[in-house]
Amino acid sequence: MKHLIAPSLLSADFMNLRQEVEMINHSEADWLHLDIMDGVFVPNISFGFPVLEGLKSICKKPMDVHLMIVEPGKFVHEVAETGAYMMNVHYEACTHLHRTIAAIKEAGMKAGVTLNPHTPVSLLEDIIQDVDMVLLMSVNPGYGGQKFIEHSVEKTRCLREMITRKGLNTLIEIDGGVNLETGKRLLEAGADILVAGSFVFKAPNPIKVIHDLKAL
Ligand code: DX5
Ligand code: ZN
Repeated sequence: MKHLIAPSLLSADFMNLRQEVEMINHSEADWLHLDIMDGVFVPNISFGFPVLEGLKSICKKPMDVHLMIVEPGKFVHEVAETGAYMMNVHYEACTHLHRTIAAIKEAGMKAGVTLNPHTPVSLLEDIIQDVDMVLLMSVNPGYGGQKFIEHSVEKTRCLREMITRKGLNTLIEIDGGVNLETGKRLLEAGADILVAGSFVFKAPNPIKVIHDLKAL
């Protein structure tokens, strides 16, 4: 499968969100990645459901929602109401991950499980068959514009090996510090989807950057 690009709105100009989303609509981006933070699971607060609700009517790309919050299982209904395509919950935030994944699918969304940089891929052995996507964090979640953690390439390779070994078609998405150089290596290691925040939105020509990422 040709890889997908999911720009992260976290680095957009929040005073001009409509124009930023329209730019994404006109670009080669495949999904729009949306980072929800609660100031508890991560040391930052971003935006919440009212913003997602507003995006629902103007965003033409599937919404890939990344919840960096404690107890994300409590909000499955709210996320589904925003029309989200994919709901990603952190492995580290879910005591009953299997139950939460089942609820996400029951609500009509694709289910993604996210791993912090320190969480080993091997912990997915007994849940990977139930998820549509694994989102590997290649920075510590909470902020855009951080330095890429090198070990993420090896981790991507390890996850690809697990998916192949089990004969699954689970997608692999990578989030944090993605640019043309890290992106190329992640794709070679087996990534399917690249999230890019600051590399896209802080660029003079975001449409071209999305094109270049898509052309990798
Ligand atoms: C970080 C978020 C990312 C963030 C990535 O916690 O999950 O989606 O927007 O930003 P960059 O691409 O700038 O590292
Ligand atoms: Zn994210």
